Amino acid sequence: MAGFGTILDKDEISAVADFVRWEFMIHHAPNTRYHIEANGWDNHERYAEAFPFATGELALDTPDDQLTVGQRAGKQLFFSACITCHDRARVMEEGPIWESRPVSFPRNGVTPETVGQLDGVSGASIYAVHDRPVVVADLTAEERMGETLFQKNCAFCHAADGTGKNWIGRFLEPHPRNLTDTTFMSGQTATTLLMTLREGIPGTSMPAWKSVLSDEQIVAILHYIHRVFHPVAGLGRGER
Ligand code: HEC
Ligand code: HEC
Repeated sequence: MAGFGTILDKDEISAVADFVRWEFMIHHAPNTRYHIEANGWDNHERYAEAFPFATGELALDTPDDQLTVGQRAGKQLFFSACITCHDRARVMEEGPIWESRPVSFPRNGVTPETVGQLDGVSGASIYAVHDRPVVVADLTAEERMGETLFQKNCAFCHAADGTGKNWIGRFLEPHPRNLTDTTFMSGQTATTLLMTLREGIPGTSMPAWKSVLSDEQIVAILHYIHRVFHPVAGLGRGER
């Protein structure tokens, strides 16, 4: 705290000290609440689901699958309506995304078409390493088709290397899945993944691909994921 000696004169400082003594020490007045009707916050209780994120009781980076449906809704609300004032509240892991440095959206010059073509500025960013596809020499024809389709349709959100650790992926909430993550991928099978790819995930930015790609193309992408990112249960080598 800065000294007030150059801002307030002696009488003003002792008046403030008297107020603090009287109001808080003698009368034990509760701390001034901000979210009251007079400040334009009528019935603030209706946002109760977001309170634990504002008070830090729940960390903001708690994975969605560890939250109840109500807590998920609270988190969404916090991100859309409260974070402007409450800032990032509490997080478990201080990743680069929480650094207090300015970022712009979308990153200059990055569109689905230009992902992978790095300019001088974005090439130096910590996200850029994830904008490069993994090079695998001996892809089958189907896997190569899957690669082309993945890089064209999915890499914008999931990163060219499938990790979702590219710029857009870190920005989206919830984050696009890390398709190389063993914990997540070992809980999946060819059947569940195909279902997700066809139907998308309502309430997130994950689209329903059945309206965009043919089933043959979706299956090719799955084979690419299986080969390059993480083995998929139910897609043995023999089935390629
Ligand atoms: C315009 C700025 C602003 C916005 C927007 C805002 N808050 Fe606050 N909030 C404050 C201030 C200021 C305090 C008082 C801080 C203190 O006492 O330390 C506060 C305190 C709180 C508290 C703790 C004390 C209390 O009054 O209950 C909760 C819980 C809270 N806010 C929840 C929310 C939620 C949920 C949202 C989104 C729906 C939200 N706030 C949006 C400024 C804001
Ligand atoms: C606009 C952004 C976006 C695009 C484009 C996108 N995804 Fe996603 N994807 C997401 C998000 C966000 C999630 C996480 C949703 C969640 O956590 O509930 C996700 C989740 C997934 C999952 C995990 C499903 C699960 O059960 O959690 C798979 C697999 C997946 N995406 C594959 C793909 C493939 C393959 C493509 C391209 C054909 C693609 N995605 C394109 C945003 C995107």
